[in-house]
Amino acid sequence: MRRGPFRVGDRVQLTDPKGRMHTITLEEGKEFHTHRGHIKHDDLIGNPDGTVVKHTVGTEYLALRPLLSDYVLSMPRGAQVVYPKDAGQIVTMADIFPGARVVEAGVGSGALSLSLLRAVGDKGRLFSFERREDFAEIAKANGRVFFGEDHPAWQVSVGDLVETLPSTVDNHSIDRIVLDMLAPWECLEVVADALAPGGVLICYVATATQLSRVAEAARLHGSFTEPQAWESMVRGWHLEGLSVRPEHRMHGHTGFLITVRRLAPGSSAPHVSKRPAKGAYGEDYTPVDEEWTPEDVGERVKSDKRLRRVRRDAVANAELSVSRNPTGDESLGEAGDE
Ligand SMILES: C[S@@+](CC[C@H](N)C(=O)[O-])C[C@H]1O[C@@H](n2cnc3c(N)ncnc32)[C@H](O)[C@@H]1O
Repeated sequence: MRRGPFRVGDRVQLTDPKGRMHTITLEEGKEFHTHRGHIKHDDLIGNPDGTVVKHTVGTEYLALRPLLSDYVLSMPRGAQVVYPKDAGQIVTMADIFPGARVVEAGVGSGALSLSLLRAVGDKGRLFSFERREDFAEIAKANGRVFFGEDHPAWQVSVGDLVETLPSTVDNHSIDRIVLDMLAPWECLEVVADALAPGGVLICYVATATQLSRVAEAARLHGSFTEPQAWESMVRGWHLEGLSVRPEHRMHGHTGFLITVRRLAPGSSAPHVSKRPAKGAYGEDYTPVDEEWTPEDVGERVKSDKRLRRVRRDAVANAELSVSRNPTGDESLGEAGDE
């Protein structure tokens, strides 16, 4: 990250009094034009971050170097990016630490990669995999712009994770694996081989059906701890005078996160999982045609014996109620009638 006064080549975010943002890259002699006038880049070069500059018509613009969270939302995108709120959760809950050896797939636009690179630092390693070459190129370019150079810890490989991971890293040499893709369950075999015992796998998925499938596949695989899943919601607040309240709009849904940890080879999880939904996972998965049972969706089903008792009590109550009020007189049973 660059520090100190603005220099040629710096990306600068200009914010006008209405909160509208424009990002420019500083060049000597260049001007940033709006429909009413312009700002000279030379008025920014050499001045400190946080400077306020005047537009030719007198409007003031605040100039700041973009934060990582600003940058990922304005950078060129190939695929949908992981939003900063989820990137923060991923870095913390997957315990990405300085010096860690991390695998990530897919790279998409590289938004999450930037947070992971920040967290592992220059002495860590981030092995990123993306099956689309064009996306990988976009991601690498975004990284180069953000860090001002190719990050020394970053290796981007083009290819499917399942095919490429085994030949890229040694077995059990990886501390953390982050999957942001449509079908993370297809990668569990290579993930289990690559992860060190105790290592963390975190998956980011958009739908509840993907969440269920990856959870059941991880359980079935047997090399992982019991999955934990959650989502996070962030609600911005409006702060203006006495009008201090939640914003009216928010992102209601981005994705779900699920983590498991790699068991030691040969160990099996002490907690035996509940019976998974029929056909919910595995290579031979086909959409279920048969009717779902209450157990399939996690409902607790009463035993036949308990149901017989409930039924007997209900019938007895009804008979009692009818025998007391054979005419169906609605006044019966009102307070004070006994
Ligand atoms: C939603 S995007 C990832 C976005 C990225 N995390 C970001 O923040 O910019 C999902 C990407 O995964 C890639 N992908 C899907 N399955 C893959 C696989 N098995 N191996 C490698 N890449 C995969 C897709 O091509 C796509 O670019």
